Amino acid sequence: VEVTSAREDLARDVSERMWYHTLELAPGLETPGWFDLRPALRTIPFPASLAGKRCLDVGTFDGFWAFEMERRGASEVIAIDLLEPQSWDWPSASDPQIIDQIARRKGTGEELGVGFEIARRALDSKVERLEMSAYDLDPDRVGRFDFVYLGSLLLHLRDPVRALEAVRSVCAGTFLLCDAIDTTLTLLHPRAPLASLDGTGRPWWWKPNAAGLQRMVEAAGFAVLERPTRVRMAPGAGHARPRVRELLQSLPSRSARAASMHALRGDPHVAILAQPAA
Ligand SMILES: C[S@@+](CC[C@H](N)C(=O)[O-])C[C@H]1O[C@@H](n2cnc3c(N)ncnc32)[C@H](O)[C@@H]1O
Repeated sequence: VEVTSAREDLARDVSERMWYHTLELAPGLETPGWFDLRPALRTIPFPASLAGKRCLDVGTFDGFWAFEMERRGASEVIAIDLLEPQSWDWPSASDPQIIDQIARRKGTGEELGVGFEIARRALDSKVERLEMSAYDLDPDRVGRFDFVYLGSLLLHLRDPVRALEAVRSVCAGTFLLCDAIDTTLTLLHPRAPLASLDGTGRPWWWKPNAAGLQRMVEAAGFAVLERPTRVRMAPGAGHARPRVRELLQSLPSRSARAASMHALRGDPHVAILAQPAA
């Protein structure tokens, strides 16, 4: 019958591409995401109800947070993303092969950003995706929002505070940030705001300690509402677990060691709930 074939079509669409987010698109039909954010969703202060709220998801990728806003009753959800990897913040002299490799998860050519569209259709969602940079958020272009979520994006930006300032300009209610932190700096320096800098060949820039992430939020004009929450973004079914040999080989290098640990235990993040400072 027709229902079965629609499900088969969806299962085929899902299997034919790489996914960033684990999304349940039909009962028992999940995308094999690089990350499975469902456990994190239960830990961070994501509002239980967004009934009647106008919401914004910044850097949506396959749309996990945007679809969740809709599920929680949002009256309107806008999701922005920069689909073309070329328009991300690349450090000078980045290797074109690495650009290609990272870009593949986003889909190329006609497939660019298609994961979000497949999910949107399957979920019968009204989320509207705009191709726009976080830096360009402006109330004259997109209006203001009651709730804004920004996740796992600041570490990919050359100028995270400028992006946060743009977010503040469109935030008329609550802002929830959940971004990567440097765990060593957080452990060694619980109070001083510090960050490590990558900037070598891939769009990886600043990784602050927890105090540093909070300072960025405050420096951009937000008041932090409650004690920040530590959370790990768990690997999904599409994230290869490192083998013992790879784990051992990664031990001498700090960044390789961190990558192995994240693939096993999840990527350490901090969630910060804030509102524009008076
Ligand atoms: C690491 S993914 C995080 C996806 C999602 N926000 C989450 O929390 O799982 C980063 C996303 O930000 C997008 N992106 C990169 N630079 C951006 C920018 N300047 N403005 C908006 N989105 C950007 C990428 O295309 C990608 O979809």
